[in-house]
Amino acid sequence: MRMDPLRIGMIGCGENAKKGIVTCIAMTKLARVVATMDVRLDLAKDLADEAGIGVYTDNVDVLLRHREVEAVVISTPHNLHVPLGIKAARMKKHVLVDKPVATTVRDAERFIAACRREGVLLSVLFGKRFGADMEIAAALVRRGVLGRLTGFSLVNVRRKADSYWTGGYTNRVKTDWRTRKKTAGGGMLLMNYSHNLDAIQNLLGLEPESVYAQHDTFATPVEVEDYFSVLVRYKGGAIGTFLGSSATPGGLKTPDCLYGTHGTITVDGTVRYFTRKRIKGLRRGEWADLPLERGSHTAGMRLIENFARAVRGKEDLIVTGENAVSSLRVIEAAYASQKSGRPVVFT
Ligand SMILES: NC(=O)c1ccc[n+]([C@@H]2O[C@H](COP(=O)([O-])OP(=O)(O)OC[C@H]3O[C@@H](n4cnc5c(N)ncnc54)[C@H](O)[C@@H]3O)[C@@H](O)[C@H]2O)c1
Repeated sequence: MRMDPLRIGMIGCGENAKKGIVTCIAMTKLARVVATMDVRLDLAKDLADEAGIGVYTDNVDVLLRHREVEAVVISTPHNLHVPLGIKAARMKKHVLVDKPVATTVRDAERFIAACRREGVLLSVLFGKRFGADMEIAAALVRRGVLGRLTGFSLVNVRRKADSYWTGGYTNRVKTDWRTRKKTAGGGMLLMNYSHNLDAIQNLLGLEPESVYAQHDTFATPVEVEDYFSVLVRYKGGAIGTFLGSSATPGGLKTPDCLYGTHGTITVDGTVRYFTRKRIKGLRRGEWADLPLERGSHTAGMRLIENFARAVRGKEDLIVTGENAVSSLRVIEAAYASQKSGRPVVFT
């Protein structure tokens, strides 16, 4: 299917813009970066050089008025996603925003409403949903490997280097936004878990009923949490458990696990399953691996291709503002539960 590439203006040219987004855009013929913007002009120039273009600025109004720009990708500190996104929508630019869509559900809803009012698309960089592992897991769930869903567990316990909080993984940008509640919205739970939670909740079509959580900041000089444990009861009965830490030496890499009355599926870039049901073409009563060949950049590229095709009216948007809020709803409730010491029950 031939299509004019979507012309993207990049807002925020920090670590993820460089190591993730621009790489994914370069992999597809359906989109290209035509201008870059960062409050630090040197970073905007560096990314423009990498994209092979001569258009860069430190003024967002200049980028938004640029006649070539049809859509923006926003990759800035979390608290800027909504104000910059609404500004772009008002200039009739389609918006693809880095995760999380916002730091509060209320702001996310304002953002969604603004994009709807202006007639532009809003999508969120939840690339994990496009991973081959998630697609295979979804197919296994549809084929009945689990039987009745009873729950899932997400465990991500590791130690981020102290330098992460002020320089990310690459030290591209010296900053303290990750350390503060006001600018980051939260720690490991919001920064890292929103990906896994978004992917699993959407894969299983889960809607939360109640959330109970505890978190703390044990070993990192930051305002946001470095350890948390969350328990979610979903409508229909399934129970989600997730545990994470950014300050645990040694750590433990555990796959995301889905559980049911008849089987288990594990997902972590590869997929394994165990089922006691008789299903054509699948093993029964023993663990089996399923082969994969796609990496995370390919998943990001596929998300960008879906966004580009959706802007051109050629297919439906997969990650919408509306369905991207579901993980934020649970995360916001988890922070509220910690504060009150009680479960948050959704009405
Ligand atoms: N770093 C990663 O590995 C990673 C991975 C996935 C997603 N993300 C997401 O990417 C987003 C950015 O994170 P990062 O790690 O790249 O942070 P970063 O600090 O490296 O980059 C943020 C950039 O935004 C710029 N900026 C600040 N205010 C701005 C404004 N008003 N207008 C335009 N630009 C502005 C900064 O100068 C900086 O270059 C976040 O939503 C984060 O959750 C990061």
